[in-house]
Amino acid sequence: MREHLTVVSHPLVQHKLTLMRDKSTSTASFRRLLREISLLLAYEVTRELDMTTIRIETPLCEMDAPTIEGKKLTLVSILRAGNGLLDGILELIPAARVGFVGLYRDPATLQPVQYYCKLPTQMEDRLAIVVDPMLATGNSSAAAVDLLKQSGARNIRFLCLLAAPEGVQRMKEAHPDVPIITAAVDSHLNDHGYIVPGLGDAGDRMFGTK
Ligand code: URA
Repeated sequence: MREHLTVVSHPLVQHKLTLMRDKSTSTASFRRLLREISLLLAYEVTRELDMTTIRIETPLCEMDAPTIEGKKLTLVSILRAGNGLLDGILELIPAARVGFVGLYRDPATLQPVQYYCKLPTQMEDRLAIVVDPMLATGNSSAAAVDLLKQSGARNIRFLCLLAAPEGVQRMKEAHPDVPIITAAVDSHLNDHGYIVPGLGDAGDRMFGTK
């Protein structure tokens, strides 16, 4: 059984995260780093997938070789910043099913407002990995996991790049059964719901918007 919170301390992850935090990092570099870091985080989030064996034939002989068991896992991106993590992970798990949840934060209340939800079928039989670079207040993340549970998902993990202690706590209260995998837990949220020191607005930085 996984801990509720896993911080991936691998030097490559931490080095790339530092480059991403730096405000002088260009959009192109930010995107490339996000893709690279998502591969490393995907390695960690899939560490304990159930395995089975299949009979195959190598050029030399037959063997029972390990393979991932069960239905294709699902990646669920919280729009729009989740797509930055999604792209990298799909390179590593190209057969994954993909769902999207559209939530935006009401700037006044910081509460999530849903505008889109499209999930694969048979969610009850799949591992679902929710991806969103920033676990800030945790309100959107908890709402996204609510939607997944309503669709039948029972085996859910949450993958992010950065988390605030407030978001981790919110998720722990709302979904103690959903492990969080992140590259760092920062100091706090500011009055606008931004993670401090953080890296700014992840969506703006990856798409070059303001
Ligand atoms: N979303 C972001 O993109 N950045 C934050 O710091 C918090 C939420």
